Amino acid sequence: MKYRSIAIDGPAGAGKSTLAKALARVLGFLYVDTGAIYRTVGLAALERGVDPADGVAVSELLPGLSITMGYGEDGLQHMFLDGADVTEAIRHNEVSAAASKAAAIPAVRDFLLEMQRRAAAEHDVIMDGRDIGTVVLPGADLKIYLTAAAEARAERRCRELRERGQAAEFDQVLAEVVERDRRDSQREAAPLRQAEDAVVADTTSLDLEGSFQLLLGLARKHLGLTEGEGHE
Ligand code: DC
Repeated sequence: MKYRSIAIDGPAGAGKSTLAKALARVLGFLYVDTGAIYRTVGLAALERGVDPADGVAVSELLPGLSITMGYGEDGLQHMFLDGADVTEAIRHNEVSAAASKAAAIPAVRDFLLEMQRRAAAEHDVIMDGRDIGTVVLPGADLKIYLTAAAEARAERRCRELRERGQAAEFDQVLAEVVERDRRDSQREAAPLRQAEDAVVADTTSLDLEGSFQLLLGLARKHLGLTEGEGHE
């Protein structure tokens, strides 16, 4: 049986994970957050005192790492590093930058590719990341390139960090967003870019509900949903 897949790519803070999670719930698909997988590698480097930008040192770490993904009773994706649940720890701001640096290393991308493809071979998935439509699932049934102006994304990131009780200063968060965009889209290995057959969804002036309806409409149109699927 062929499983269906929706690939959502785009820059940090465009709303990928929130929207993909909501869409997955409505469609009954598995939500796979691939950024969380790269974050786990970033965290592993930080914990072991390895510079996440050092390709040789990080590559040497990989064979000794056990990175696994599981779904809790809540239906949410949990990440495990050497058996420990690191789902919360990978959300820290310093891990964002470490993940972005480690993600530029080709050996890291190769190491994580199989795990991502396996999820899509075993379930209907909505997978979000930077290279899902271009590299991980080039045959996805629907590819969405989700984007928004950098200022709008920084604003959302600030709110998210504050809600988690972490300090957030707009100018600094904006600078980090711009820097991460630059690194993610200019690296040589599987850079962030729009797949040729992706539909662009710009959420700069849309709220969450508006963005969700836009994506749900795209899913209904492209996936040929059957009766009962895709209804809230
Ligand atoms: O989506 P996120 O912010 O959690 O991702 C963290 C970093 O991981 C991001 O800066 C780029 C990298 N990443 C990637 O290179 N490819 C993916 N498919 C997902 C994330």
